[in-house]
Amino acid sequence: VPRTHRANPAAAPASLPERSVPLAETALDAATRAILEEDGIRELYPPQAAALGPVLAGESVLLACPTASGKSLVAYLALLRACRAGRVGLYLVPLRALAHEKAEELGRFASLGLKVGVSVGDFDLPADRLEKLDVLVATSEKADGLLRRGSPWLDRLGVVVADEVHLLRDADRGPTLEVSVTRLRRAYPDLQVVALSATVGNSKELADWLKARHIASTFRPVPLKLGVYHGGRIVFTDTSTRELPPPGEAVPRLVRTVIQEGGQALVFVNSRRGSEQLAHALIPAVEAALSREGRALARASAEELGNVGEEETEGVRRLGGLLPHGVAFHNASLTDPERRIVEHAFRTRVLKALVATPTLAAGINLPARRVIVRDTTRYDGRLGMQAPIPAMEVQQMLGRAGRPRYDRSGEAVLVARGADEEESLTDTYLLAAPEPVQSQLASEAALRTHVLALVASGVAHSKSGLLDFFSGTFYGHTRPMADLDRTIARVEKFLGEHELLARGERLEATRFGRLTSELYLDPLTAIALRGAVERAPIGVRPFPLLAAVAATPDIAPLSVRRGEEADLLARFTDEAEELLVRPEDEPLDLPLDVFLSTLKTAQVLEQWLAETPILQITERFGIGAGDLRTRVEDADWLLFGASRLASAFAPRLVRPLDDLALRVRYGVNEELLDLVRLRGIGRARGRLLYQAGYPDRESLRQAPVDRIAQVLRSPKLAELVVGQLTGRSRGGRAPPTPAPTPSPKPRTARPRRLDEFPPEPP
Ligand SMILES: Nc1ncnc2c1ncn2[C@@H]1O[C@H](COP(=O)(O)OP(=O)(O)OP(=O)(O)O)[C@@H](O)[C@H]1O
Ligand SMILES: [Mg+2]
Repeated sequence: VPRTHRANPAAAPASLPERSVPLAETALDAATRAILEEDGIRELYPPQAAALGPVLAGESVLLACPTASGKSLVAYLALLRACRAGRVGLYLVPLRALAHEKAEELGRFASLGLKVGVSVGDFDLPADRLEKLDVLVATSEKADGLLRRGSPWLDRLGVVVADEVHLLRDADRGPTLEVSVTRLRRAYPDLQVVALSATVGNSKELADWLKARHIASTFRPVPLKLGVYHGGRIVFTDTSTRELPPPGEAVPRLVRTVIQEGGQALVFVNSRRGSEQLAHALIPAVEAALSREGRALARASAEELGNVGEEETEGVRRLGGLLPHGVAFHNASLTDPERRIVEHAFRTRVLKALVATPTLAAGINLPARRVIVRDTTRYDGRLGMQAPIPAMEVQQMLGRAGRPRYDRSGEAVLVARGADEEESLTDTYLLAAPEPVQSQLASEAALRTHVLALVASGVAHSKSGLLDFFSGTFYGHTRPMADLDRTIARVEKFLGEHELLARGERLEATRFGRLTSELYLDPLTAIALRGAVERAPIGVRPFPLLAAVAATPDIAPLSVRRGEEADLLARFTDEAEELLVRPEDEPLDLPLDVFLSTLKTAQVLEQWLAETPILQITERFGIGAGDLRTRVEDADWLLFGASRLASAFAPRLVRPLDDLALRVRYGVNEELLDLVRLRGIGRARGRLLYQAGYPDRESLRQAPVDRIAQVLRSPKLAELVVGQLTGRSRGGRAPPTPAPTPSPKPRTARPRRLDEFPPEPP
């Protein structure tokens, strides 16, 4: 396939104005200016001013500018322009927390008619809600899902924003971003692309690929001093130094001194356990620096934890011991609502110090006057040992310090373990340019998924069609296509052998293939689940079904602790006859230890269904409530997928799978399924009602509200429940609430670098 590289006329860096430009002197209209001014923005920063002309002319831009330089505003202005021209826009982000922040900021343009929605969770926005939106903030997996299923909303697409575009280099999630952007650009030739990153070594190359104007700058509105701490002082890259008075080890001292100056500290460490331990260790240092008023505020913040969920969790317990002291941790063991409480408390300056794993690293705005990166290595599961963290990722963490809305200056500090490390840390992380971004598309796992999706959704109908598509990716822009050619051939053969692609003149997906692509299942998952439903006997118990979904690569296995193997092996032996997916089954072919860890996931889910309290489950299996939550969401979605596959290949399994999915969603025995459909009623409160003699909504309808309040120990909740019961006719059974359709979200069995921290070393 011939590959033509049209020269990109816009690729030369725009000459940047030296200074910021007052809003009145820009081409912005009065209404937009008024909103920005109200928001405290009086001038455009130099890179923003440089980008404004091209953006308003509908040109694509790539902004390679430092952290905190206000890149998002450029994207917002592009979206606003598109919306006023009757088009819609997609804002792609890698993280949930970031999606919410961006949507909130875009919400400030609501008075101009901009309607913004977010799609990151487990359920898609229903088509009619999407239809009303001007801007959708979503992960690239969500965008990819929309493209696969097709959507009339996309036909109005005018702008796509690729925020944190360096994510392309992420082995797990990069290919999806690359494929989505490529698909969108092919489908909508006049599409405006706005790509943003503070940490790409080869931004010009990316701009060339996107035919975007390359706007590079070193401007940072809030000065950020970068340094290395050792032996009581920080040595900054500008050669200045700063002595930090004792007492204290490195991190407590760095934390205490910035709080004493009225700032806040954000500390990054490389493991969950490390984040909790350090948060505890910091209590004396933070307390020493807290004012009386600060102490009172911190104590009050802990009360919010009481309302976070229906059931107590380990995270709430542990945070409860920390928040009153003005310090907390943030990692993937916490549930989403727990994390939001922590983020909010830090943002409103109630928490003075926060210890996080890199779950908080990219793009987020927080009031951290000093960022401390304690660890520059982390456990790499693939290597089985500690490995250095890439400069790009460390620089993202450092860039959380000194953000315009919160601080006038910032400090970002690495901690040296010895005098000899001082220089190497400076060279590797503070002075070095970020790594160049390389495409990860060529991996067989990525191509298996995307080749199937491209064929199933009609983008390509032949090998040459596929090659033509991939030549338009960043991979195709930077690498010889011959390598890809071979992998595609292997992938095609594989998909054919497993009946996902039909073999014939024209490349076409089978019904199975189309289902797999639309359900957003990894082909390996779909093959395993299809086998499982075809094999399942009538009356199959839940456990083999749970074990089947747990064995797929779309659900991250839980690590097995020492002492757990024996139990898991015993369970494996007990269940062997009835298991629907076995370790040796092709194409999964799981090593025994991996298989046992998937069996552990199945056991966790089994306990969840048995209504074992969360606190007991997490303690027994050594996991966090956040881990339980993600496995529950994944299993819910996979059981839905399995049920759709069953409707094609084993219809008798549809009902059992749908019922099981619902039980997994709520974590209940069957008898509670009617009650948990009520808002405010989950597994714990549902059980209370059931035990008090109210087994379903119908029985509640006859109950006096006082009695419900007594059972639930809350008049407010009783009101909420009764409010939902009355709207309906008395007598006949209430119609079941339709279950929302689960849908794609970023999923992978391997840890997602940006989303979730790699597993702890055993
Ligand atoms: N011209 C401006 N004047 C004042 N504040 C601004 C201006 N532009 C942006 N900001 C504010 O600066 C902060 C940082 O902006 P933004 O999040 O867009 O940074 P970024 O360049 O995307 O950084 P990162 O690479 O870390 O994601 C935001 O709080 C934003 O509201
Ligand atoms: Mg940003």
